[in-house]
Amino acid sequence: MAFRVLSCALILVGLLWMAAAQSPLAVSTKWEAPPDAAAKPNPEAQNPEAQANGRRSFMRLCINCHGEDGKGERPGAANLRSADVQNQSDGALFWKITNGNTTNGMPSFAAVPETNRWDMVTFLRTLKQ
Ligand code: HEC
Repeated sequence: MAFRVLSCALILVGLLWMAAAQSPLAVSTKWEAPPDAAAKPNPEAQNPEAQANGRRSFMRLCINCHGEDGKGERPGAANLRSADVQNQSDGALFWKITNGNTTNGMPSFAAVPETNRWDMVTFLRTLKQ
């Protein structure tokens, strides 16, 4: 009898443990651009005006949260100078700016013309530490 109670308890604990391991709360979901988006080349790469254009848009749209220097004014706003950000491809940064991650406080800038979004990516490279 005691054995049966014990084995039932063990099975229950095992099931609970498996459920916890599979729960979405237990999985850390990193915010990453899909590979095809990340592989897109920057069509503004050869445009000598891109950096200045991008800077202008950035100062208008982004500094409230990321700061003029891109270090991140607001708690939670990414440090755009960090290696973590700068090691991502132009396509990946473009995708993140376009789609945002609204549940974490990064708005979507899909309404900003595409060329301006690429220009901001070009400008972000000048912030690299
Ligand atoms: C309302 C505040 C806010 C504004 C405005 C904002 N951001 Fe963000 N941004 C965030 C937050 C918060 C994160 C972190 C989101 C996360 O890690 O899930 C973030 C993340 C990012 C990332 C991804 C960094 C990484 O870790 O991969 C990039 C790139 C970025 N922002 C660029 C921009 C640009 C460019 C603009 C202007 C067009 C902008 N952001 C405007 C709050 C903001």
